[in-house]
Amino acid sequence: MSSPLRIAVLASGRGSNLQALLAARDAGALPVEFVAVASDKPTAGALALAEAAGIPRLVLKPKDYASRRAFDLDLFARLRDIGADLVVLAGFMRILDGEALHPWVGRMINIHPSLLPKYRGLHTHRRALEAGDLEHGASVHYVTAELDGGPVIAQARIGIETGDDEQRLAGRLLAYEHRLLPAVVRLIAAGRLAFTAPDGVSLDGARLAVPLELRGDELVR
Ligand code: GAR
Repeated sequence: MSSPLRIAVLASGRGSNLQALLAARDAGALPVEFVAVASDKPTAGALALAEAAGIPRLVLKPKDYASRRAFDLDLFARLRDIGADLVVLAGFMRILDGEALHPWVGRMINIHPSLLPKYRGLHTHRRALEAGDLEHGASVHYVTAELDGGPVIAQARIGIETGDDEQRLAGRLLAYEHRLLPAVVRLIAAGRLAFTAPDGVSLDGARLAVPLELRGDELVR
């Protein structure tokens, strides 16, 4: 048997998506090894989850670096030295330097709470509500130098309901994020997914014309 995919998770906040990955691994549904949880915030809930799960933690403070690029170069050098195969951005709230991330293109994914290409950046739930959208969702995409602009692998869609405000919508969507992210990592761990330069995704060797869709716990074409 080949060795499990070695993943590093980067998170700035509470870490519920990390928790979903850990739960999938513990349930035997995700054959990966967590080699690091890294954060720019010493108080991130994600770090406490990592500690409880016995995963090595890495905390880098932006103020200790002369520039964004210096921070990112150090972060990615450490992840390389740890031997990460895949970097998963799960609520990592920093813009990454294009040069520093370049060696990781195709080996780094991000979960973003919108139906990309709609609503890159922040306040996605509020913007969807203000636009009067009928549906909202979350995307997992390969990370490229363009903020939230890399090719989308898979999406979860939900209808916007009359009672939704920003908080309710975010909370309802989060439950879908927790299924979407493990499902994508599972495909990568199985060696079925690939980044095809400059901006494509292929599944089982065939380029995806549109992102995969989450149905239940599964991704479908
Ligand atoms: C998630 O909703 C994720 O999609 C979002 O941050 C939240 C992290 O929650 N990511 C972004 O907005 C990235 N631009 P978590 O810490 O509970 O996983």
